[in-house]
Amino acid sequence: MDGQLLLGLLLLLLGASGLQGQGPGPGGPSEGPPDEEEEQEEEEVPEEDGILVLNRRTLGLALREHPALLVEFYAPWCGQCKALAPEYSKAAALLAAEAAKARLAKVDGPAEPELAEEFAVTEYPTLKFFRDGNRTHPEEYTGPREAQGIAEWLRRRVGPSATQLEDEEGARVLMRAWDVVVIGFFQDLQDKDVATFLAVAQDALDMAFGLTDRPQLFQKFGLTKDTVVLFKKYDEGRADFPVDKELGLDQGDLSRFLLTHSMHLVTEFTPQVLFVVVDVGANNDHVLQYFGLKAEEAPTLRFVNMETTKKYAPADKEPVTATSVAAFCRAVLGGELKPYRLSQEIPPDWDQRPVKTLVGKNFEQVAFDETKNVFIKFYAPWCTHCKEMAPAWEALAEKYKDHEDIIIAELDATANELEAFPVHGFPTLKYFPAGPGRKAIEYKGTRDLETFSKFLDSGGALPAEEPTEPPGQPFPVGSSVQGRSLWTGGCGADGAGWAEAAASSWGPVTLCRRRQKTPRSPRTSCSHAAIAVHQGRPVSGAPGS
Ligand SMILES: *[C@@H]1O[C@H](CO)[C@@H](O)[C@H](O)[C@H]1NC(C)=O
Repeated sequence: MDGQLLLGLLLLLLGASGLQGQGPGPGGPSEGPPDEEEEQEEEEVPEEDGILVLNRRTLGLALREHPALLVEFYAPWCGQCKALAPEYSKAAALLAAEAAKARLAKVDGPAEPELAEEFAVTEYPTLKFFRDGNRTHPEEYTGPREAQGIAEWLRRRVGPSATQLEDEEGARVLMRAWDVVVIGFFQDLQDKDVATFLAVAQDALDMAFGLTDRPQLFQKFGLTKDTVVLFKKYDEGRADFPVDKELGLDQGDLSRFLLTHSMHLVTEFTPQVLFVVVDVGANNDHVLQYFGLKAEEAPTLRFVNMETTKKYAPADKEPVTATSVAAFCRAVLGGELKPYRLSQEIPPDWDQRPVKTLVGKNFEQVAFDETKNVFIKFYAPWCTHCKEMAPAWEALAEKYKDHEDIIIAELDATANELEAFPVHGFPTLKYFPAGPGRKAIEYKGTRDLETFSKFLDSGGALPAEEPTEPPGQPFPVGSSVQGRSLWTGGCGADGAGWAEAAASSWGPVTLCRRRQKTPRSPRTSCSHAAIAVHQGRPVSGAPGS
């Protein structure tokens, strides 16, 4: 988005009639703080680079004076605050040049502990947006941390977040200026779906929004019912999101639709990357486990190379946007990111039970101990074959617990990744005989106490005629992209569940189904971890088809 586009947008915004008109609200100047702060007269609020510098006395003053005030709580020692400072000033300058009503301010948190406490500031920088002088209910700033983004985030709050369109030319002007334009066609602009639409428009900063109730525009774009239409200058050019009149427009669903369809990713990465959305609210714990993720971390991204099973995470907690997803994918594919390896912490009682508990961090030391014969079960908590063999494994450990040189152990391979080798199937059983050379023998026999014992007693060999079970399928299977077979592997039912999740959200990428209704800011109500799955073959299902 360059300056010119912004200017175009601005003109449109200024030209639009005030749909979301924000006159000084009822809570305006009359709602002063309690009387004791009488000395409010005429105090000059100092400025630095166009930013109001506030303290506990002047904050109230600034709130009364400025109906749209973004306040940054910073700390002098905070590096991210320093990085933000020039962008913040630039944003203030942009807005000042447009005579926009929004003002930017800052508060030195450590120097103003009462304010830090009042606004529950626990980390720096924290930015809060105060509207109409309302001191008790600021909106958390969720936007980007660069000048254009900050300015745009504020513009969408002080002006209408969507331009009201009267005719086709208005729509065309918008489409010329922006790569992605979203137009809400609503028969009744007082409908509550319109409010939802405008709320989404406040946060989707990389696209422009228009709004119309004009029959000739409905007709022009071939519509008869309320519909949100995304127009883009690339790919298929247009995607429709009909408004379900009975259920109403859902903010999360609309956000997800917009993000999905605004992505260039689809075409840019199609031959290499499969994009999968995982709803962390929908019993997908094993998927999260696979990535070492917690539900609270959503929305976020992970990337897995399905051939090597190496996993990648974005470097810092960036919001999930088309731009950040694309940058992340490019960085991984360009070899710029190091994979991460999961490990749990070593439990304090790891060697107290007959079956010893191994994790990534103690695996090397125990498995390759040259004085011990070590037999390890690599399992997944959700894998049924693993559960079935657990009693036999316990019995084996009990039986050999007095053998100084034998260790029976287990390792949750979904939470611990090993440098020595990847674990593909569950369960995988490996025997690490004493002695040098880091030897490992895979156990392929029957999974019962008797056969395990024979194997141990013979030092890692089985009589030739032992029937062997087929080893578990590698996990993930990793070659087929035809939906359902994607994750079906050694542990059938759960793998199929994952495949369902993958198949049902087949489109490209990410973001946000509703977990609970929150009136603002779809980002904070997201319940998806977006997982980009690296894949070697083309994706067949076209997005949204
Ligand atoms: C501030 O906003 C909240 C939530 O919208 C509202 O309940 C409250 O009355 C407002 N306070 C003032 C002083 O306007």
